[in-house]
Amino acid sequence: MRSPVPDTIRPIRFDAGRLHLLDQRLLPAESRVNAYDDAAAVAEAIRDMVVRGAPAIGITAAFGVVLACDRARDRNAAPWRAEVDAAIERLAASRPTAVNLFWALDRMQVVLDRCGSVAEACTATLAEAQAMLEADIAANRRMGATGAALIEPGRAVLTHCNTGSLATGGFGTALGVIRASWGEGRITEVFADETRPWLQGSRLTAWELLRDGIPVQLLCEGAAASLLRTGRVGWVIVGADRIAANGDTANKIGTYGLALLARAHGVGFMVAAPLNTVDFEIAEGAAIPIEMRAESEVLGLGARAVAAPGARAWNPAFDVTPADLIDVIVTEHGAVHRPDRAGLAALRERSGG
Ligand code: MRU
Repeated sequence: MRSPVPDTIRPIRFDAGRLHLLDQRLLPAESRVNAYDDAAAVAEAIRDMVVRGAPAIGITAAFGVVLACDRARDRNAAPWRAEVDAAIERLAASRPTAVNLFWALDRMQVVLDRCGSVAEACTATLAEAQAMLEADIAANRRMGATGAALIEPGRAVLTHCNTGSLATGGFGTALGVIRASWGEGRITEVFADETRPWLQGSRLTAWELLRDGIPVQLLCEGAAASLLRTGRVGWVIVGADRIAANGDTANKIGTYGLALLARAHGVGFMVAAPLNTVDFEIAEGAAIPIEMRAESEVLGLGARAVAAPGARAWNPAFDVTPADLIDVIVTEHGAVHRPDRAGLAALRERSGG
């Protein structure tokens, strides 16, 4: 047993009427916190990747609704609800794949429906958004313990993108499982894909793990097959942006390839995500909307152009891993082994959801 793993990073904070977001575009070079006081700017921050990661996007959007209520109150807007609904529409249009965004906005709509005045809405939405943030951290801790218990001690893990504190309210999903496993001395090493084109692995996952005292080795995505072939890795552990009712899972582009590689090399493949990432309205992965992003993200490295002038780029932000390549989906309500429609439905039933 190693000493308890530090968990020091909180990317989203609401205080004194403003939303504060750690600007993830600048990490690790600079830790700058931006303050927001209107929902339109929050929608833009989500689209522009100031904040990213499915649960973090949802929580941020919820605070965006709080700001919309606050502004409607300050301006004495007559149809305050219409104004807040317009802000919700804008937030919903920021990124299409992570279902947590729509889940969070739906929850805020339910709260708004109970409010008779804008003053009431300001108080109630703030309480709801804060509760969402706290519940997310608690869920991640439970997920961490459940996922860690599945890991036989003595081997390494490989992860993809950033699924840690930065991608959530705190602690992380897949990275939460890794934090917990490291704390329990179950894993020997952590490998992280650098994750082109935004480099969430090399910029964010590495920053966050090292800050909390967990050593990490980065690799180019193209090196994953060779790493898995060495036999050093026991589990590939990733997060999710949306899980269809049958267990097909959308996550950062490259995840599907890793699942195929894991299966080919006899390595376990674990998805860790809160239950609100499962979209029971979507029957299978083919129906999950996949965000396409600008070609420039692939043609350059940050602001620097690197590709041959005239080359075009194909830049889907996510891919879908079929359920039959996933060994286990770990949620805060327990694990579903060999996930399928019946297993996920039973989990929802057990959770009371
Ligand atoms: O484009 P991003 O950085 O928002 O993509 C994030 C991911 O794909 C994560 O793996 C996913 O949101 C799970 S985060 C706990």
